[in-house]
Amino acid sequence: MIRETIITTKGPDGRAHIAPIGIIQEGDGWVIAPFKPSATLDNLRRNPHAVANYSDDVLVFAGCLTGRRDWPLEPATKVPGFVLAGCLAHAELTVEQVTEDELRPRFLCRVVHEENHRPFQGFNRAQAAVIEAAILVSRLHMLPPDKVDREIAYLEIAVGKTAGPRERQAWDWLMEKVAAHRAQQQAGAES
Ligand SMILES: Cc1cc2nc3c(=O)[nH]c(=O)nc-3n(C[C@H](O)[C@H](O)[C@H](O)COP(=O)(O)O)c2cc1C
Repeated sequence: MIRETIITTKGPDGRAHIAPIGIIQEGDGWVIAPFKPSATLDNLRRNPHAVANYSDDVLVFAGCLTGRRDWPLEPATKVPGFVLAGCLAHAELTVEQVTEDELRPRFLCRVVHEENHRPFQGFNRAQAAVIEAAILVSRLHMLPPDKVDREIAYLEIAVGKTAGPRERQAWDWLMEKVAAHRAQQQAGAES
């Protein structure tokens, strides 16, 4: 089972780094597997703690992928780290074991503390569509453009039918990023 979360880690300057990461369930623990290079990876090596924030605010996911990483945070309870304000729940994690890998080292983490903040409000299809689109956007450099176009066309149906204002804004940020990536590629091909 993989859960799509917002992972917060602490940087060398003591500031928070925030990134959408899918954490992988392993027994009672969770594996964080950042692709190299990654600030999350560097931070976990220096400060072996993280917070997995369970959030239904897709604006944070889309924001992080489009250069908007400044979201309100609060201090974590048991680990040196940060909790995303407004998240539904969070788990505070400590790294127990590191498995090195050329592409994607794995940090097996133990849950040292958990808190619930707000009730789960039910599934929303636009939120799921935004998460899928965010994953596409994080892989634009390696996916064929026609695959991206086909998947966006399908996901857009759920957004059109079920989005609220935050989901619509998140979708628009992601689509701007796709357009900017295409424009950059076009400019590169012409020069
Ligand atoms: C839903 C979702 C899940 C993601 N899961 C991972 C992951 O497991 N590992 C990873 O390296 N990047 C993942 N990404 C991409 C990262 O969020 C993105 O590349 C980020 O900038 C990580 O690099 P950083 O730690 O330097 O910020 C995911 C993105 C999304 C939208």
